[in-house]
Amino acid sequence: MWLASVLSLCLLTLPLVHAQLPLPSQPWLPPNASVGTQSSNGTSPNQQWSNVVGNLLYFYEEQRSGKLPQNKRVLWRNDSALDDGKDAGLDLTGGYYDAGDYVKFTFPMSFSMMSICFGALASGRGYDLANQTAYLDDALRWGLDWLMKAHPSPNTYYVEVGDPNVDNNYWGGDQGIPTPRPSFQINSTSPGTDAAAQGAAAFAACSALYNNRTLSASSSTSTLQNATYAALLQGHARDLYAFATNSPMQLYQKAVPAAGDGYASSDYKDELAIAAMFLALSETGSNASTYYNDAIKWYYSGNLAFSLQAGEEAVFNWDSKTPAVPLLGAAIANAYPNVVSGSNVTLNLWQSAVEQYFNVFINKNGRSYLTNGGLLYFPGDSDEASLNPALNTAMLMMIYAATGISSSQMDEYRAYAQGQIDYVMGKNPMNVPYVVGVHPDSPVNPHSAISTGWVSPDPSVLAPSDFANDPPQEAYILYGGVVGGPSPKDLFYDLRSDWVENEVALDYNAPLLTLAANALVVGSGDPWYTQVQPGSYAAVKPSGSPCDAAVSTGCKHGPGHLSTGAKIAIGVVVSVVGLAIIALAGYWWWTSKTHGRGRRY
Ligand SMILES: *[C@@H]1O[C@H](CO)[C@@H](O)[C@H](O)[C@H]1NC(C)=O
Ligand SMILES: *[C@@H]1O[C@H](CO)[C@@H](O)[C@H](O)[C@H]1NC(C)=O
Ligand SMILES: *[C@@H]1O[C@H](CO)[C@@H](O)[C@H](O)[C@H]1NC(C)=O
Ligand SMILES: *[C@@H]1O[C@H](CO)[C@@H](O)[C@H](O)[C@H]1NC(C)=O
Ligand SMILES: *[C@@H]1O[C@H](CO)[C@@H](O)[C@H](O)[C@H]1NC(C)=O
Ligand SMILES: *[C@@H]1O[C@H](CO)[C@@H](O)[C@H](O)[C@H]1NC(C)=O
Ligand SMILES: *[C@@H]1O[C@H](CO)[C@@H](O)[C@H](O)[C@H]1NC(C)=O
Ligand SMILES: *[C@@H]1O[C@H](CO)[C@@H](O)[C@H](O)[C@H]1NC(C)=O
Ligand SMILES: *[C@@H]1O[C@H](CO)[C@@H](O)[C@H](O)[C@H]1NC(C)=O
Repeated sequence: MWLASVLSLCLLTLPLVHAQLPLPSQPWLPPNASVGTQSSNGTSPNQQWSNVVGNLLYFYEEQRSGKLPQNKRVLWRNDSALDDGKDAGLDLTGGYYDAGDYVKFTFPMSFSMMSICFGALASGRGYDLANQTAYLDDALRWGLDWLMKAHPSPNTYYVEVGDPNVDNNYWGGDQGIPTPRPSFQINSTSPGTDAAAQGAAAFAACSALYNNRTLSASSSTSTLQNATYAALLQGHARDLYAFATNSPMQLYQKAVPAAGDGYASSDYKDELAIAAMFLALSETGSNASTYYNDAIKWYYSGNLAFSLQAGEEAVFNWDSKTPAVPLLGAAIANAYPNVVSGSNVTLNLWQSAVEQYFNVFINKNGRSYLTNGGLLYFPGDSDEASLNPALNTAMLMMIYAATGISSSQMDEYRAYAQGQIDYVMGKNPMNVPYVVGVHPDSPVNPHSAISTGWVSPDPSVLAPSDFANDPPQEAYILYGGVVGGPSPKDLFYDLRSDWVENEVALDYNAPLLTLAANALVVGSGDPWYTQVQPGSYAAVKPSGSPCDAAVSTGCKHGPGHLSTGAKIAIGVVVSVVGLAIIALAGYWWWTSKTHGRGRRY
């Protein structure tokens, strides 16, 4: 108790020092999109993939909240939300805005930090090769330092700052963000098992990374090591895990309903299991084995194996961590055999669990399928950000391939993952590389209040009446933002008001960042977009408008991109489609119940 109050006092009075790896004196800045048309000509490390790593990290800088440093790279961003936490008597400034809006959501933010550290544990050398390790450090600390502020005492953890119901009405720049911005916490009397455990997982994964652990046979970050910072993170990981496991267990939106509006969690056993796994990686000696055995306990008591089987095939995302549990178990058993030696579950069991899961995609015998254009699509989970579950699956496959675990199927997993990467990078029916600013045909209308540059004609007006076209062109290029992605028919409209296809988010960027770093480690050739002729998107851009959870104007007119003859033919199939829609709606209801996707703002 005494220690806790001293700790929170320190956090209140001392500004957190952002001491870290020195940033280059000549800052790395995203190149003009036209550079994306140039072949790297076999240079090693690959120049284009290095640019992708740089761009994807730059996106996190664009999303920063709080007081920005003097050497900021994003000159059009300003200090913002400087009163965050005042309502709680705390400094909760800093951290990242979640997506296209200005709310800070701890659950997905901590997931994103965990995901980036997880990937860097396997492909960290890719950041060194791209000369981006200092920016990786900077991006991680901007998130982790805030998460530490949000955890001012062992059993108090802030899970949200800002009110989506207020924030959603606002579409201006970073100088007019509406207030009040309330701070919401979980604590011993109102716990949130999933949010606390996810926080522990992020701190432990990143502590392991800063402490020179590696999951890969051939790669680690040579320059990121910092035992002091690792120990700081480790303390928060232990405390949050103890908070999660010693308090009564419940979903965090029971304690903080406001967080449920944006990111309702559907289960907490997966967070408990992944947290215990990452603690097993970051701890040493008998502590590591204790956490490892805890992970096994959550894996079995949560029946997590069930949701990995064909027909269920849980996704890996901000809500669902299950597929990473056996993968991490296998990686730890492989790299740190002494941690698992006294346990009843060792490499073989995890390996067969993770391979059975991946083989559902290879064998196409589950609920997911490939779109005609080749995107891995999970009905329900993919409906509000189609690229994300596919990129996360590809990331898990590539991390698994990097472990050096002996398996006859590694080449198949690599090839499968590469197919998803190629799709996202422009090998798709739209010819669109779905990363803002990397190519002339990249999306130009990300759903992002920060980049839009809309200026209110009158302070009482908080948003334009015509979201899609006002202003006609976004004021700032949101370099490195990965958008939600195309429809299940592979159609992409690049419509600013369509948050399903065009929103950006912290967790959308994370898996592609790992995949780009991995591409440098393994020496991949250029990302697909260098083969896309500028103007190819314009040639096939669908007419009409989308039909999804954000924009329904396309629903009554049928799908776009059709000739008159095709429109006549539609009449014939409308009844069939109608039945399919009813079936899909039922399925959506079912999946949103069972998988608990939150609404993205
Ligand atoms: C390591 O991290 C600590 C804590 O953030 C910091 O004070 C120190 O400057 C860092 N050292 C290096 C070499 O980056
Ligand atoms: C990028 O380069 C093209 C062609 O050189 C130029 O027309 C365009 O203005 C440049 N864009 C930016 C944002 O500098
Ligand atoms: C690759 O080679 C071509 C032709 O020599 C050249 O125009 C282009 O600038 C080179 N690209 C890079 C990234 O060096
Ligand atoms: C990284 O920096 C080194 C040394 O300055 C340079 O030789 C190399 O080309 C850089 N790599 C990339 C991908 O920019
Ligand atoms: C930052 O402030 C400048 C100057 O007021 C303004 O032009 C710019 O649009 C602001 N940036 C954002 C993201 O609102
Ligand atoms: C504990 O959290 C709940 C839910 O956020 C909140 O209503 C309550 O005030 C908190 N308790 C304390 C002592 O701050
Ligand atoms: C990190 O670990 C690797 C072996 O995995 C070792 O070669 C390297 O020296 C270590 N680096 C530090 C800073 O401890
Ligand atoms: C094991 O954990 C305890 C408390 O969590 C800590 O005090 C101790 O130093 C740890 N042991 C090692 C070897 O890290
Ligand atoms: C391992 O032990 C756990 C209990 O911690 C048990 O639930 C599980 O069934 C055991 N697994 C195997 C493969 O023996």
